[in-house]
Amino acid sequence: SKKITIAIDGFSSTGKSTIAKQLAKELGYIYVDTGAMYRAVTLYAINKEYVSENFLNVEKLIDDLDKISLSFQFNATLGFAEMYLNGKNVEKEIRTLAVSKLVSPIATISDVRRKLVLEQQEMGKNKGIVMDGRDIGTVVFPDAELKLFMTASPDKRAKRRYKELIDRGDDVNYEEILHNVVERDRIDSTREDSPLTKAIDAIELDNSDMGLKEQFERIMSLVAQKL
Ligand code: C5P
Repeated sequence: SKKITIAIDGFSSTGKSTIAKQLAKELGYIYVDTGAMYRAVTLYAINKEYVSENFLNVEKLIDDLDKISLSFQFNATLGFAEMYLNGKNVEKEIRTLAVSKLVSPIATISDVRRKLVLEQQEMGKNKGIVMDGRDIGTVVFPDAELKLFMTASPDKRAKRRYKELIDRGDDVNYEEILHNVVERDRIDSTREDSPLTKAIDAIELDNSDMGLKEQFERIMSLVAQKL
């Protein structure tokens, strides 16, 4: 049967990855979380002390880009692929608030974006892929058959994120999470290279008051029209 490319973009914590994983599973497609790649590069920069809350050494990071090897490895127990940085599983480490706070400035760097976009295009060259991020429908796969743009109110998004982190056992407060979500969206939407924006042919989905099942069914009917 025909395989398509599904691009899912949107603001942070809009539930893109939850829906993308579910779609990939249903369709037997590959799922790629591009945010994990930007997070892994950020973790590398933190470990090398190229970045902190008031400091970013762009030159050093760019010099090291060839030494940063990213890969996804499927974990059958979890049912999804985990992020590996230079051979090490970093899936847990990249989801911390410390990484969330520094990832958006790192994602403004064009050399970083160029490297990751090329890798993403390679992963999707045979189609049959669901990819989520900020620039998938605009830059990575401008010819994707189905493009979705997910939105939800900042408060709903921060609440989801907060619950996720608390459930994991992280010690975070709601205000801090809300601030991070809003700040990341601001940086992501205003950067010069590949800003977060809805592709003209993307379908916008506000899921502020929509359950997972409803979203999934809505999107599957859009997919069916493309197959
Ligand atoms: O999707 P997630 O929230 O994990 O993404 C983390 C950050 O990575 C985003 O806030 C954004 O700065 C960056 N990103 C990006 N382009 C993508 C995916 C993520 O700039 N395609």
